[in-house]
Amino acid sequence: MTNHNLWRSHEYVTKITMWRVDTQLVRSPHAQMADAKSVLEALTAQALFDLRGIVAVVTGGASGIGLMISSTLMANGAKVYIVDIDQERLDRVPKLYNQGAASHMGSLIGIQADISKKSEASRIAAHISSLEPNGITALFNNAGVSAGHFKRPDVQANSHLTAQDFVKALFDDIPEESFTDVYKDMTTSGFSFPYSFSKSAIGLGTASLAHELLPLGIRVNGIAPGLFPTEMAAPGTSNNLGISSLASREMPGLESPASKTGGTRFDMGMLALFLVSNWFVNGETVLIDGGTLLRHPSAF
Ligand SMILES: NC(=O)c1ccc[n+]([C@@H]2O[C@H](COP(=O)([O-])OP(=O)(O)OC[C@H]3O[C@@H](n4cnc5c(N)ncnc54)[C@H](O)[C@@H]3O)[C@@H](O)[C@H]2O)c1
Repeated sequence: MTNHNLWRSHEYVTKITMWRVDTQLVRSPHAQMADAKSVLEALTAQALFDLRGIVAVVTGGASGIGLMISSTLMANGAKVYIVDIDQERLDRVPKLYNQGAASHMGSLIGIQADISKKSEASRIAAHISSLEPNGITALFNNAGVSAGHFKRPDVQANSHLTAQDFVKALFDDIPEESFTDVYKDMTTSGFSFPYSFSKSAIGLGTASLAHELLPLGIRVNGIAPGLFPTEMAAPGTSNNLGISSLASREMPGLESPASKTGGTRFDMGMLALFLVSNWFVNGETVLIDGGTLLRHPSAF
């Protein structure tokens, strides 16, 4: 999005927030006593996470984690643009969810684009700006692909591993054509140490960007997911509504103490709601992995 529009969208969030502060806190103690009912009503989950009037953009929002986020925002009143490369999903998913929405809910609007291209980013920014003259409130930069090949030497099968075993597994066995996909930090194979580098860099990257954008009043926060059943993690399992499932025997190296089948759309949706609604959180990256990192230290 252009800075201009992001700034305007921030103003929008601030306006909503200030209204809450005004109505809940800035009254005299006597007024608060007299009006305890309305103070309490404003503290219900429904009021705190009321996203009516919010406009969000979710890249990769037609599948997996992006859809967990976009459908939760929509269910709580937001208008959500889902930007995705997959036209078939864009034709199917928003239609089904919009048909199922109650009157107090928001909507999903599909826009086809390849966000890996700079020209496409400019195009969709201009397009959404023309549709939303007051700007957007939140952007989830979620789209991603899994690429590359990475396999550690098998410690279980060979307890006397040599340096050569590591060179073979971590270098020689990587095909020439997928070398950059395995080792570059933006698109890396899961379970790999370059993937761990990129994952840990997210925290600093998020805080740095939040610092850079402070003058514009734009908040930047990150989500660092553990295992979530999606088309990426469980290919071919998503149903018509884009909901995937993971059998407990899959992903043996990445199970979480909380659940062998990964996080749910409720877990991810709640986090998205929190990050959009809470204007006091800035520069933070939230690890949401059911305790996986505690069981597999440095796994990501
Ligand atoms: N699923 C997990 O366990 C997990 C864990 C950690 C991080 N992630 C990250 O979460 C993000 C979402 O992954 P997911 O698991 O939901 O995968 P997914 O494959 O279900 O969804 C990704 C979506 O992004 C879209 N997309 C891909 N490339 C695109 C492009 N160039 N332009 C526009 N849209 C594009 C796809 O069409 C798809 O709809 C990714 O960045 C992934 O690396 C996933």
